[in-house]
Amino acid sequence: MYSITETSEKTLLITPAPERGSDLTEEVKTAMIREATGILRNSYAPYSHYNVAAAVLMSSGKIYTGVNIESSLLSNTICAERNAIFHAAAQGERRIIAVAVVGGMNSQDAEDLISQDYCTPCGVCRQVMRDFADPDEMTVICAKSETDYREWTLGQLLPESFGPETIGTE
Ligand code: THU
Repeated sequence: MYSITETSEKTLLITPAPERGSDLTEEVKTAMIREATGILRNSYAPYSHYNVAAAVLMSSGKIYTGVNIESSLLSNTICAERNAIFHAAAQGERRIIAVAVVGGMNSQDAEDLISQDYCTPCGVCRQVMRDFADPDEMTVICAKSETDYREWTLGQLLPESFGPETIGTE
């Protein structure tokens, strides 16, 4: 009665897997920004109209994506970055090398993102990244286009942070 088949979901794999954010080439950064931009149309933000998408490169070399998903109970909203990270973690990934973030007000249907601000990760997402990354070796890329972007280490965006080793789990 039902036909059960595999889907052809295409995801990107970088080989050899980069070991740290500072190892990324322009080509890899461009690929991450393109992956994020490609999924921006799936952002569900009917309340804020602020559309965001993220692509996260994990230590396996695989890139996972996510968008912000809002809820009519507004506090249930999940940011694009956490959505992508949790997507990766659910596949067994545990170490983030880099994340690329794109988006802004009504950016879902925007032809390009040039007129938008760089969308930097919220404090909650930065803290979640901290669990899955060495803050000085993870790169955060915030892009308006494949060539117009800013980048930081997680440590620059979340200095003097609290992390897993603080409570003796690493
Ligand atoms: N948002 C993200 O998804 N990522 C960010 O880095 C900043 C904010 C979302 C959450 C909410 O759906 C909307 O943007 C406005 O706060």
